[in-house]
Amino acid sequence: MQRRDFLKAAVGGAALLGLGDTGRAQTLPSDRKFHPGEVWRDTDGKPIQAHGGGILYHAGVFYWYGEDKTQGYNNKVGASCYSSRDLYTWKHEGTALAASAVPKQFQDTGVLERPKVIYNAKTRKFVLWAHLDANGYSESVAGVAISDSPTGPFTLLSHSHPIGTSTYRDMNLFLDTDGSAYSIYSAEDNATIYIVRLNEEFTGPEMPLVEGKTWVRAIPRHWREAPAPFKHKGRYYLFTSGTSGWDPNAAMLASADHILGPWILGDNPCVGPDAEKTFHSQSTFVLPITGRSHGGFLYMGDRWKPQDLADSRYVWLPFEFDANTGFQLTWHETWDLSIFGKPL
Ligand code: DGJ
Repeated sequence: MQRRDFLKAAVGGAALLGLGDTGRAQTLPSDRKFHPGEVWRDTDGKPIQAHGGGILYHAGVFYWYGEDKTQGYNNKVGASCYSSRDLYTWKHEGTALAASAVPKQFQDTGVLERPKVIYNAKTRKFVLWAHLDANGYSESVAGVAISDSPTGPFTLLSHSHPIGTSTYRDMNLFLDTDGSAYSIYSAEDNATIYIVRLNEEFTGPEMPLVEGKTWVRAIPRHWREAPAPFKHKGRYYLFTSGTSGWDPNAAMLASADHILGPWILGDNPCVGPDAEKTFHSQSTFVLPITGRSHGGFLYMGDRWKPQDLADSRYVWLPFEFDANTGFQLTWHETWDLSIFGKPL
């Protein structure tokens, strides 16, 4: 389809002007710009449904997994998958882990939150972890699923608590440069962030569990959610939010020399108006940007809309490091990848 035809088909006449129904700019697939907080449409013209998401970069393609909230809060659809080669234009690849692929209690009235995928080069499997819950967040288990393809379908292998009976809620995965992988999540009813090294297949915690060696209570009793880990120049960083439900709050950037700590609590890396609300977003992922002369990181956050979760928006911002100031996140109404320098 020609660009013009596509735009017409996608969002009607207003799209030709790059205007959304609010009359403000929105992120269109062909736009090659990010518009944080605006409606973001896929290549079919539908608003992207990948909330609480994360990105896997595999064989030259970015895969964005997230919660499909088309039918609201509960797990009616499952975890979606979108693909892109440029981070602006996203094609819907369908449902990667279907709601029907998890036990009944986590469907319908249950939830499937914050799905993330990493690739295991040894087993050649794509491994998806997500937070599954039911009965008012009283189950709080890790759902682990695998697939031979990045787009799925994923098959659920297990649902369990990685450590004892402690809750598994807001979560992420982190694949280190040495090939080891970790799940990082809010445990102890959200009071404490755990970091747990995974087994060789990435399908469960490394056994036997040894606190301080295979897993740690990384940030104890600080009530942090939405963990988004990344590594810069050999140092580990963890972006988290506070715990105020769907409402945005102040972020905190912790850091450590080793993934299993000790972790040092840091400040809010956001700067400028609305910094104390993380620009009205909650962290979900930090993506390293490579292949550009400066490099850097891309912050991915969710601007939740509790009264209409399907219309929750994405806040993607450049997250840059400066030797004097450290990492700082600042608001950009519109931006593009040239902020990270020229393509190499
Ligand atoms: C905050 C969490 O970060 C979200 O993933 C979601 O679980 C909401 N709480 C629900 O209130």
